Amino acid sequence: MKNKVAIKRIRLKAPWEIELMRTANKIVAEILQLLLEELVEGVTTYRLDAFAEKEILRRGCKPAFKGYHGYPASLCVSINEEIVHGIPSRHRKLRHGDLVSLDLGVIYKDYYGDAALSGIVGPNGPAVAHRLLEVTRGALDAGISKVRPRSRLGNVSAAIQGYVESAGFGVVRQFVGHGIGKALHEPPEVPNYGKKGTGPVLRPGMVIAIEPMVTAGSVDIRVLEDGWTAVTADGSLAAHFEHTVAVTNKGPLILSAV
Ligand code: MF3
Ligand code: CO
Repeated sequence: MKNKVAIKRIRLKAPWEIELMRTANKIVAEILQLLLEELVEGVTTYRLDAFAEKEILRRGCKPAFKGYHGYPASLCVSINEEIVHGIPSRHRKLRHGDLVSLDLGVIYKDYYGDAALSGIVGPNGPAVAHRLLEVTRGALDAGISKVRPRSRLGNVSAAIQGYVESAGFGVVRQFVGHGIGKALHEPPEVPNYGKKGTGPVLRPGMVIAIEPMVTAGSVDIRVLEDGWTAVTADGSLAAHFEHTVAVTNKGPLILSAV
């Protein structure tokens, strides 16, 4: 989601709500895994979107992104220098070595699931693309490891930023993670940069989508004329991973795990 300043109440979820969100997010995770297998040379991003939508409907869910502020598809497909919100197109075919980020959301019984992952088309591919995937996935894990009651959101943000910057890459600031529940975007914002010991205190029942966007070059972004596709200002590669995570007394519960 877009980084905008808004301080509102964080709604805690009851265990039965977290159960429903687990179902919604597991469906997202399953479809993302299926989509990974579809990342082959020559496939159009339109076909990936159609595939995702079919799988969503088949499971009794609704696409969460379609129509959201006018977004025209069920899936976001962002290739290479595209960071997030790439719009599927009949004219865009995947090529060998492309770094592809897939972001998917569903609604199941009024509750939202939201997750993202990135992959590379074909074997090989540029070494930097592989490294970027590893670091972005690692950054998400580093953030999740700070999720527990009485921790603070700034600990999550700082862990992500520290992990990425130690690896020599940078985090995007203009987009952030978010609370999630009966809306796709709820308070709080979950930045991928910040200071530990700051921000809202985490409590059992909070559910947040953590979604680091990492670039191999400039962290500045530009939005294309389509009004959606965010790209790196310098054309460098970008990767994106996202999990929806519940804060529980036992620590983080990754609702969008497969
Ligand atoms: N995971 C993204 C987000 O939280 C997906 C939004 S795509 C949109 O912002 F089309 F729905 F905006
Ligand atoms: Co999200």
